[in-house]
Amino acid sequence: MPNAARLSVTGSERVGPYTLVRVERRGIEPGAAGQFFMLEAPGRLLPRPFSLCIAPPGELGFLVDPIGPGTEAIAALAPGDEIGVLGPLGNGYRLDVERPLLVGGGIGIAPLPYLLEQLGGSAPVALGFRSAEHAEAASLLPGAEVVVDPVLVTELIEPDSAGRDWDVLACGPEPMLRAVAALCPTAQLAWEAPMACGYGACYGCVVEIDSALKRLCLEGPVLDASRVRPQVEAVA
Ligand SMILES: Cc1cc2nc3c(=O)[nH]c(=O)nc-3n(C[C@H](O)[C@H](O)[C@H](O)COP(=O)(O)OP(=O)(O)OC[C@H]3O[C@@H](n4cnc5c(N)ncnc54)[C@H](O)[C@@H]3O)c2cc1C
Ligand code: FES
Repeated sequence: MPNAARLSVTGSERVGPYTLVRVERRGIEPGAAGQFFMLEAPGRLLPRPFSLCIAPPGELGFLVDPIGPGTEAIAALAPGDEIGVLGPLGNGYRLDVERPLLVGGGIGIAPLPYLLEQLGGSAPVALGFRSAEHAEAASLLPGAEVVVDPVLVTELIEPDSAGRDWDVLACGPEPMLRAVAALCPTAQLAWEAPMACGYGACYGCVVEIDSALKRLCLEGPVLDASRVRPQVEAVA
């Protein structure tokens, strides 16, 4: 069940160009990996959607890429500041997979540490970043295979030594997700759209799903690749 609360920030640390913001958990459940939370910094009119990155005892942790006013306000929070939290919302990753491979691009790394924890901690992880500074975020997933542009993370997705395909669980920018969908038709993809409410009321998050326009906050954000159109040319 989603819950709303005003929570205190317990910590904030830089991870490359990103900021890992930890807040007290109180009555808020962490939910399933890939679900999201609407976070509202003090003085901001609208909340912004974030994946849960880590769930240490008594805390919820969010990895923030400060790309605009909403994310910058959250990245600037200091311990003791208050933040509005609503969640968990939407549908996360299905964990009933036999051979998971976690694939992340850029800030798409955000839901993967908690996803890996929910999968028992032993799945392989492939990450791609646009620069060495961004790749510092791979420290959140020790043991991950990491590539930096111009090498693409999709180049790390190959059948295992026995020739079997992976169950890919991915999060990243849209071109990466469409390329993953073309390579792995059974992949689960954490999709993105601007979201103003997070629970179906504003229609701001409408995207093409199953060849029709639907609200991502209710259908996703994690979608089976078969529900979105792959971008075949991205992997040609
Ligand atoms: C389900 C979900 C989970 C997310 N998880 C995280 C996370 O864990 N960490 C994180 O840093 N970010 C995450 N995001 C993205 C984050 O919510 C946006 O970057 C943020 O809302 C931008 O707000 P802003 O006020 O900082 O910038 P704005 O001024 O609102 O936007 C800056 C630029 O980014 C574009 N933009 C804004 N939101 C989105 C979006 N959702 N998708 C594509 N383009 C967008 C705008 O068009 C504009 O060009 C997530 C988004 C979704 C939908
Ligand atoms: S975010 Fe408001 S309807 Fe989806």
